[in-house]
Amino acid sequence: MFKIVVLISGGGSNLQSIIDTVSTSKVGYEISCVIADRECYGIERAQNNHIETKIFDRKILKKDISKKIDEYLGDGIDLIVLAGFLSILDEEFINNRRGRIINIHPSLLPKFGGPGMFGMRIHRAVIEAKEYESGCTVHYVDAGVDTGEVIEQNRVKVEAEDTEETLQKKVLVEEHKLLPKAIEQVLDKLK
Ligand code: GRF
Repeated sequence: MFKIVVLISGGGSNLQSIIDTVSTSKVGYEISCVIADRECYGIERAQNNHIETKIFDRKILKKDISKKIDEYLGDGIDLIVLAGFLSILDEEFINNRRGRIINIHPSLLPKFGGPGMFGMRIHRAVIEAKEYESGCTVHYVDAGVDTGEVIEQNRVKVEAEDTEETLQKKVLVEEHKLLPKAIEQVLDKLK
Protein backbone atom coordinates (compact mmCIF):
# COMPACT_ATOMS: atom_id res chain seq x y z
CA MET A 1 0.00 0.00 0.00
CA PHE A 2 1.45 3.37 -1.05
CA LYS A 3 1.44 6.22 1.44
CA ILE A 4 0.61 9.72 0.31
CA VAL A 5 0.63 13.04 2.16
CA VAL A 6 -1.55 16.00 1.16
CA LEU A 7 -0.37 19.57 1.77
CA ILE A 8 -3.01 22.29 1.93
CA SER A 9 -3.60 25.93 2.90
CA GLY A 10 -7.34 26.41 2.43
CA GLY A 11 -10.75 24.88 2.08
CA GLY A 12 -9.44 21.50 1.01
CA SER A 13 -12.07 20.60 -1.57
CA ASN A 14 -9.37 18.84 -3.60
CA LEU A 15 -8.30 16.99 -0.47
CA GLN A 16 -11.94 15.96 -0.09
CA SER A 17 -11.95 14.54 -3.61
CA ILE A 18 -9.02 12.30 -2.65
CA ILE A 19 -10.66 11.29 0.65
CA ASP A 20 -13.87 10.41 -1.22
CA THR A 21 -11.98 8.39 -3.82
CA VAL A 22 -10.13 6.43 -1.13
CA SER A 23 -13.37 5.64 0.69
CA THR A 24 -15.48 4.73 -2.34
CA SER A 25 -13.13 2.87 -4.65
CA LYS A 26 -10.33 0.37 -4.37
CA VAL A 27 -7.10 2.31 -4.56
CA GLY A 28 -3.58 1.19 -3.85
CA TYR A 29 -2.77 4.02 -1.46
CA GLU A 30 -3.74 5.61 1.82
CA ILE A 31 -3.53 9.20 3.07
CA SER A 32 -0.96 9.05 5.88
CA CYS A 33 -1.27 12.63 6.91
CA VAL A 34 -2.59 16.06 5.95
CA ILE A 35 -0.24 18.99 6.51
CA ALA A 36 -1.28 22.65 6.44
CA ASP A 37 0.74 25.83 6.69
CA ARG A 38 -2.03 27.53 8.71
CA GLU A 39 -5.34 26.77 10.37
CA CYS A 40 -7.84 26.05 7.59
CA TYR A 41 -11.03 24.18 6.86
CA GLY A 42 -9.14 21.42 5.07
CA ILE A 43 -7.69 20.36 8.43
CA GLU A 44 -11.23 19.86 9.73
CA ARG A 45 -12.06 17.73 6.69
CA ALA A 46 -9.08 15.51 7.47
CA GLN A 47 -9.96 15.24 11.16
CA ASN A 48 -13.57 14.38 10.30
CA ASN A 49 -12.13 11.44 8.39
CA HIS A 50 -9.74 10.40 11.17
CA ILE A 51 -6.64 11.31 9.20
CA GLU A 52 -3.56 12.49 11.07
CA THR A 53 -3.03 16.26 10.73
CA LYS A 54 -0.17 18.61 11.38
CA ILE A 55 0.10 22.38 11.06
CA PHE A 56 3.43 24.04 10.32
CA ASP A 57 2.69 27.74 10.66
CA ARG A 58 4.22 29.56 7.70
CA LYS A 59 4.22 32.89 9.58
CA ILE A 60 6.31 31.45 12.41
CA LEU A 61 8.54 29.09 10.43
CA LYS A 62 9.05 31.23 7.32
CA LYS A 63 11.92 29.71 5.27
CA ASP A 64 12.31 26.81 7.72
CA ILE A 65 8.95 25.33 6.73
CA SER A 66 10.45 22.90 4.16
CA LYS A 67 13.01 21.59 6.65
CA LYS A 68 10.35 21.04 9.32
CA ILE A 69 8.06 19.21 6.91
CA ASP A 70 10.94 17.11 5.64
CA GLU A 71 11.96 16.07 9.16
CA TYR A 72 8.37 15.26 10.03
CA LEU A 73 7.79 13.11 6.94
CA GLY A 74 11.03 11.16 7.10
CA ASP A 75 11.49 8.37 4.56
CA GLY A 76 8.28 6.36 4.39
CA ILE A 77 6.22 8.59 2.06
CA ASP A 78 5.71 7.64 -1.59
CA LEU A 79 4.00 10.79 -2.87
CA ILE A 80 3.43 14.36 -1.70
CA VAL A 81 0.34 16.02 -3.17
CA LEU A 82 0.17 19.82 -3.10
CA ALA A 83 -3.54 20.63 -3.18
CA GLY A 84 -3.86 24.38 -2.74
CA PHE A 85 -0.64 24.65 -0.68
CA LEU A 86 0.53 28.25 -0.82
CA SER A 87 4.00 28.05 0.75
CA ILE A 88 6.93 27.59 -1.59
CA LEU A 89 9.01 24.50 -0.83
CA ASP A 90 12.77 25.00 -1.09
CA GLU A 91 15.02 23.52 -3.74
CA GLU A 92 16.69 21.00 -1.43
CA PHE A 93 13.33 19.57 -0.38
CA ILE A 94 12.20 19.33 -4.00
CA ASN A 95 15.42 17.80 -5.30
CA ASN A 96 15.46 15.18 -2.54
CA ARG A 97 11.94 14.12 -3.44
CA ARG A 98 11.97 14.69 -7.20
CA GLY A 99 9.29 12.71 -9.05
CA ARG A 100 7.41 12.29 -5.79
CA ILE A 101 5.80 15.71 -5.46
CA ILE A 102 2.84 16.77 -7.59
CA ASN A 103 0.75 19.94 -7.64
CA ILE A 104 -2.68 20.89 -8.95
CA HIS A 105 -3.02 24.27 -10.66
CA PRO A 106 -6.30 25.77 -11.96
CA SER A 107 -5.19 26.70 -15.46
CA LEU A 108 -3.90 24.99 -18.58
CA LEU A 109 -0.19 25.32 -17.82
CA PRO A 110 2.11 26.72 -19.11
CA LYS A 111 -0.59 29.37 -19.54
CA PHE A 112 -1.46 31.44 -16.46
CA GLY A 113 1.15 29.97 -14.14
CA GLY A 114 4.18 31.32 -12.32
CA PRO A 115 4.78 33.67 -9.39
CA GLY A 116 1.68 35.59 -8.31
CA MET A 117 -0.68 33.38 -10.30
CA PHE A 118 -2.94 31.86 -7.69
CA GLY A 119 -6.58 31.87 -6.65
CA MET A 120 -8.98 34.19 -8.41
CA ARG A 121 -6.13 36.05 -10.16
CA ILE A 122 -5.77 33.12 -12.52
CA HIS A 123 -9.41 33.07 -13.58
CA ARG A 124 -9.48 36.88 -13.87
CA ALA A 125 -6.45 36.76 -16.16
CA VAL A 126 -8.09 34.06 -18.31
CA ILE A 127 -11.26 36.16 -18.70
CA GLU A 128 -9.26 39.32 -19.45
CA ALA A 129 -7.23 37.49 -22.08
CA LYS A 130 -10.51 36.40 -23.71
CA GLU A 131 -9.40 32.76 -23.76
CA TYR A 132 -11.96 30.38 -25.17
CA GLU A 133 -10.84 27.55 -22.94
CA SER A 134 -9.31 27.02 -19.53
CA GLY A 135 -8.94 24.07 -17.20
CA CYS A 136 -6.62 22.51 -14.67
CA THR A 137 -3.24 20.83 -14.65
CA VAL A 138 -1.56 18.28 -12.43
CA HIS A 139 2.21 18.47 -12.79
CA TYR A 140 5.38 17.29 -11.14
CA VAL A 141 6.95 19.92 -8.93
CA ASP A 142 10.41 21.18 -9.84
CA ALA A 143 12.41 24.11 -8.50
CA GLY A 144 10.43 26.65 -10.55
CA VAL A 145 6.90 27.90 -9.90
CA ASP A 146 4.37 25.86 -11.94
CA THR A 147 7.09 24.75 -14.37
CA GLY A 148 7.35 21.00 -13.73
CA GLU A 149 6.42 18.32 -16.25
CA VAL A 150 2.70 18.13 -16.96
CA ILE A 151 1.06 14.84 -15.97
CA GLU A 152 -2.53 15.43 -17.03
CA GLN A 153 -4.97 18.26 -17.84
CA ASN A 154 -8.76 18.64 -17.96
CA ARG A 155 -10.29 21.40 -20.09
CA VAL A 156 -13.41 23.58 -19.78
CA LYS A 157 -14.98 26.00 -22.27
CA VAL A 158 -14.97 29.68 -21.36
CA GLU A 159 -18.38 31.03 -22.37
CA ALA A 160 -19.06 34.70 -23.17
CA GLU A 161 -21.18 35.00 -20.01
CA ASP A 162 -18.54 33.49 -17.70
CA THR A 163 -17.16 35.62 -14.87
CA GLU A 164 -14.06 34.81 -12.83
CA GLU A 165 -16.36 33.25 -10.21
CA THR A 166 -18.28 30.99 -12.60
CA LEU A 167 -15.06 29.97 -14.28
CA GLN A 168 -13.46 29.10 -10.94
CA LYS A 169 -16.44 26.85 -10.13
CA LYS A 170 -16.31 25.11 -13.49
CA VAL A 171 -12.58 24.50 -13.21
CA LEU A 172 -12.90 23.23 -9.64
CA VAL A 173 -15.36 20.54 -10.75
CA GLU A 174 -12.70 19.32 -13.17
CA GLU A 175 -9.95 19.54 -10.54
CA HIS A 176 -11.88 17.14 -8.35
CA LYS A 177 -11.98 14.58 -11.16
CA LEU A 178 -8.42 15.15 -12.32
CA LEU A 179 -6.47 14.98 -9.06
CA PRO A 180 -7.48 11.46 -7.90
CA LYS A 181 -6.91 10.18 -11.45
CA ALA A 182 -3.44 11.75 -11.66
CA ILE A 183 -2.44 10.35 -8.25
CA GLU A 184 -3.19 6.81 -9.43
CA GLN A 185 -1.32 7.44 -12.64
CA VAL A 186 1.81 8.64 -10.83
CA LEU A 187 1.71 5.82 -8.29
CA ASP A 188 1.28 3.26 -11.07
CA LYS A 189 4.62 4.36 -12.46
CA LEU A 190 6.26 3.81 -9.07
CA LYS A 191 5.13 0.17 -8.92
C1 GRF B 1 -7.44 24.90 -6.23
O1 GRF B 1 -8.00 25.70 -7.24
C2 GRF B 1 -6.09 24.42 -6.62
O2 GRF B 1 -5.96 24.15 -7.98
C3 GRF B 1 -5.24 25.58 -6.25
O3 GRF B 1 -5.77 26.04 -5.04
C4 GRF B 1 -7.16 25.72 -4.97
C5 GRF B 1 -7.37 24.94 -3.73
O4 GRF B 1 -8.74 24.67 -3.49
N1 GRF B 1 -3.83 25.21 -6.22
P1 GRF B 1 -9.17 23.68 -2.34
O5 GRF B 1 -8.49 24.14 -1.05
O6 GRF B 1 -8.73 22.29 -2.73
O7 GRF B 1 -10.66 23.80 -2.25
